[in-house]
Amino acid sequence: MMTLKLGDIVLLFYPERKKSWLVKIEERELHTHLGKLDLKGLIGREWGEAVTTQKGKRLFILRPTLEDMIMKFERRTQIVYPKDAGLILIRLDIGNGSKVLEIGTGSGAMTALLARAVAPNGKVVTYEVRKDFYLMARRNLERTGLLPYIEMINDDAKKAIKGSGYDAAMVDIGDPWDIVGKVANVLKPSGTFAAVTPTMNQAERLTNKLEEEGFTNIECFELMYRRIEARLGKTRPSTQMVGHTAYVITARFTFKRS
Ligand SMILES: C[S@@+](CC[C@H](N)C(=O)[O-])C[C@H]1O[C@@H](n2cnc3c(N)ncnc32)[C@H](O)[C@@H]1O
Repeated sequence: MMTLKLGDIVLLFYPERKKSWLVKIEERELHTHLGKLDLKGLIGREWGEAVTTQKGKRLFILRPTLEDMIMKFERRTQIVYPKDAGLILIRLDIGNGSKVLEIGTGSGAMTALLARAVAPNGKVVTYEVRKDFYLMARRNLERTGLLPYIEMINDDAKKAIKGSGYDAAMVDIGDPWDIVGKVANVLKPSGTFAAVTPTMNQAERLTNKLEEEGFTNIECFELMYRRIEARLGKTRPSTQMVGHTAYVITARFTFKRS
């Protein structure tokens, strides 16, 4: 059994409130409203064990999933939410060895999920025009350990897009219709495509442009995620719900007319 050591990243989970803290085991105390916890005290413990704060609250030591890490990313952009990313990954049909183009790194949430899917033999090439967002995404992605499978480019994809033979493309920028022609130049025939847009107007303009650029099987949809409070004898939907994240557009490329 592997025990925890100095430098390990753990998720401390408080089940009563579904609250969690993503922390590195180091020589300091964690201060929370549930009381203090000496992080050094986690050394030698095992995944799944519980620890108690100085106020007597029990926290479970969990191995952080990629979703846990993404939801704790430093975020200054809207991210692709896991509920949307799940079906996007299926539609993109990527796996170990795939070569993926991403336009709009943002906070790096989707980049991390794409990289996890294509590792260890594939690659994600991702473009971010803003230097501050590029640096933020790099810091976020470094913590996931997925940077070896990602090429990050700090440039305007509309001018800088290069390469060829991409299996899949993921676009998350405000004016995706302006980049579709360039994406079509570097996607493999029959390649997969996905994009997210916050508004219907953007989704409409994009699908129209996809048709013009030789894409087929274009679908636009929205996914609703409704949590259920499942408790014996009183199961009911949660009173809170995220009303809207994004419209998702998926398509297949056919061939490039020269
Ligand atoms: C909504 S965010 C992307 C969020 C990202 N999908 C995630 O899950 O974290 C859109 C990003 O696209 C970037 N962007 C917009 N136009 C761009 C372009 N022409 N080339 C590269 N990046 C661009 C913006 O600066 C912004 O960071």
